[in-house]
Amino acid sequence: MSEAQDLTQLRNSSLAAVSAAANLAALEELRIQLLGKKGSITLALKTLKDIPAENRKSVGAELNQLKNSVEAAFASREKVLSLSQLGERLAREAIDVTLPVDSRPLTRGAGSLHPLTRVQQELELIFRGLGFTVVDGPEVETDYCNFEALNVPATHPARDMQDTFWTSGGDLLRTHTSSIQVRALQSMKPPLRIVAPGRVYRYERMDASHEHTFYQMEGMMIDKKVTVGHVIYFMRTLLREIFGFEAKIRLRPGYFPFVEPGFELDIWFKNRWLELLPCGLIHPRVLEFGGIDPNEWQGFAFGLGLSRLVMSRFKIDDIRHLQGGDLRFLTQFS
Ligand code: DAH
Repeated sequence: MSEAQDLTQLRNSSLAAVSAAANLAALEELRIQLLGKKGSITLALKTLKDIPAENRKSVGAELNQLKNSVEAAFASREKVLSLSQLGERLAREAIDVTLPVDSRPLTRGAGSLHPLTRVQQELELIFRGLGFTVVDGPEVETDYCNFEALNVPATHPARDMQDTFWTSGGDLLRTHTSSIQVRALQSMKPPLRIVAPGRVYRYERMDASHEHTFYQMEGMMIDKKVTVGHVIYFMRTLLREIFGFEAKIRLRPGYFPFVEPGFELDIWFKNRWLELLPCGLIHPRVLEFGGIDPNEWQGFAFGLGLSRLVMSRFKIDDIRHLQGGDLRFLTQFS
């Protein structure tokens, strides 16, 4: 048999074997037989040097081509086999999502959304309509995100044992949703508009208006030339949407280390001023902590007391009802 015939046979038998390999293990076995150290194609390449010089070049070229096409055949067979193994696995591990769910109500009467959830969802809708993104952050926070990057110096009373739940590792349960401002600055680029509703914790004696766990909603907008006018516009819009009428408001100066100037925004509600919305222009230091140039960008922020808003909206007189889990309270909202 001539060398050319040998090579043709080797090519045909190799390609046939590759496309017949039944699974990945068999394919690997075959790879060793053909292309391994002592594989037949490898050996054929090694004997090249014994071939008379006048034939060597053409046989060498042909052998290389053979090797390339066998390698290509291996690659495509491997793809086919791994896909079909995946298909088998998916079929084996399939779950039946058409099983009927248990639709019995969870409570006496029909189950319903918690008033906090209801108001939170309403607020999210309002802010989405104003171009804000709803974002989230962890409840176990770092000192850095909860305090330091918000320009709360180490000596600030908010870090006292009375106010903050600390973990033994030096982290804490976030005392406000303002920590999400820091997280947003780390992961987003201005211009940006975010709201961040969530649960916050204070190490406090509990009474009708104090809970260790309550809800806030943080808001932040960063853009060029943001002024106090923007704060007032967005807060008015928010209040109009929530209460359904043009609320009478007043701004008082308020001190928070992460805004300058800072305000307490009160609304006139049932013949008295209700303190509802602390807000202000984001302190340049906070922007700098977030890697943003305060000469180029400005922003405003607010920290809405979500629990407090829910209480005034539904005339709830004791904040402890919100987390108490008492069905006599909860079923009033179904
Ligand atoms: N984080 C503050 C608190 O819990 C509230 C607050 C005040 C948030 C002013 C803000 C702000 O974003 O601008 O007491």
